[in-house]
Amino acid sequence: MHIHKYEKIWLAFGLASLIVFLTVIGISAFYLGNKPPSCLTTINPEKVDQTVPFNHPGLHKVEGKEWDYELVYVAQTFSYTPAEVKIPLGAKVKVIATTKDVVHGFEVAGTNINMMLEPGYVSEYVTTFNKEGEYLLLCNEYCGTGHHLMSSKIEVVK
Ligand code: CUA
Repeated sequence: MHIHKYEKIWLAFGLASLIVFLTVIGISAFYLGNKPPSCLTTINPEKVDQTVPFNHPGLHKVEGKEWDYELVYVAQTFSYTPAEVKIPLGAKVKVIATTKDVVHGFEVAGTNINMMLEPGYVSEYVTTFNKEGEYLLLCNEYCGTGHHLMSSKIEVVK
């Protein structure tokens, strides 16, 4: 069978690209340990209030972890618990959140914290608050008639 020269070039190019992509993905997954954002932590949405850590929402200092604080949120129509929180400037914080009822958003305006809270799942995000000031946490998933009222305040203080 005769294969045209250009076809051979394209075949070689395609094969080489495939090898490059698979190598990059392979290194990223198996050597760097990257994986898709997990929604693997599950929770019974009817028992959020009785489930650790959601039985004590708010900011908690932790020892011996990669982060200094854990900030636990429970979302429900149409509010977040806690409604207001103060975080020390420069603190590395793991945000842990879930919802008791429907899907809610979890966006902290002016930062790159933006999660979806789904009933039955725990959403997590590790971040450092490096800028003093007041931040607005708001819901960006339409969740009902009070959706626009759903917000909470984060204050980063010295
Ligand atoms: Cu909660 Cu929109």
